[in-house]
Amino acid sequence: MAVAAIVIALVAQPTHAAGDAAAGQAKSAVCAACHGADGKALQPTYPNLAGQHASYIAKQLTEYRDGDRVNALMSGQAANLSDEDILDLAAYYSEMPIIANTAAEENLAMGEAIYRGGITAQGIAACIACHGPAGLGNPGAVYPVLSGQNAGYTADQLIQWRAGERSNDPNNVMGSLSQRLTDTEIQAVSNYIQGLYSASN
Ligand code: HEC
Ligand code: HEC
Repeated sequence: MAVAAIVIALVAQPTHAAGDAAAGQAKSAVCAACHGADGKALQPTYPNLAGQHASYIAKQLTEYRDGDRVNALMSGQAANLSDEDILDLAAYYSEMPIIANTAAEENLAMGEAIYRGGITAQGIAACIACHGPAGLGNPGAVYPVLSGQNAGYTADQLIQWRAGERSNDPNNVMGSLSQRLTDTEIQAVSNYIQGLYSASN
């Protein structure tokens, strides 16, 4: 009897540490219109969410909601999410397998050189240092998965950072890198990242 009471008390505690993927699924119907039922974006300029780290998804949704990351399509979607909704949605998308993707041949060698080695003369650090050889990032450090991400979306983010339109990265790491990348270099590294799926699977 005493044991049963303790068990009930523990089960009744609300969980704030991690989200509930099943609850997230129930809340994701509106998101599927753009991000797909399987986390694969319906437009190449929209991000795939499947397999992204829950920590990174939660950070982004919180920042859209609070106005620290602004986008005409996303800000309204996040405006009414509770902290619990955000954790549940993050858990749901993070458990999906990363979407298969491939790179185009054009610019691939330049993109690989930037991703793996940076551009020393321009003071650009190698992307691999934080995002990893297969683009899998680091959930603890909140470095996002890049593997297989749509090149159109990736290039758009680098251009937003370069223009100062996205500024939610800790210590302006991505902002200061992007300011030193040319359009050609952005297209090349974004194409290489799209093809990283094959390195991670
Ligand atoms: C009308 C289309 C649309 C809908 C609906 C939508 N999104 Fe988005 N979402 C976007 C676009 C476009 C972006 C990229 C915006 C930008 O450049 O900042 C985005 C970005 C995101 C990101 C950041 C991804 C990253 O890699 O940084 C997350 C997380 C996200 N959406 C989750 C959601 C969730 C959860 C919902 C449902 C509550 C949702 N979205 C509904 C279009 C949409
Ligand atoms: C010192 C660590 C570091 C290095 C080096 C780095 N990044 Fe990042 N990157 C980050 C962090 C941290 C974020 C998440 C920013 C945030 O919280 O919004 C990020 C986010 C991104 C995103 C946004 C992903 C999304 O889903 O919206 C892209 C794209 C990206 N990085 C590409 C690159 C490329 C390309 C390079 C190399 C030229 C690079 N990064 C080098 C730390 C790094």
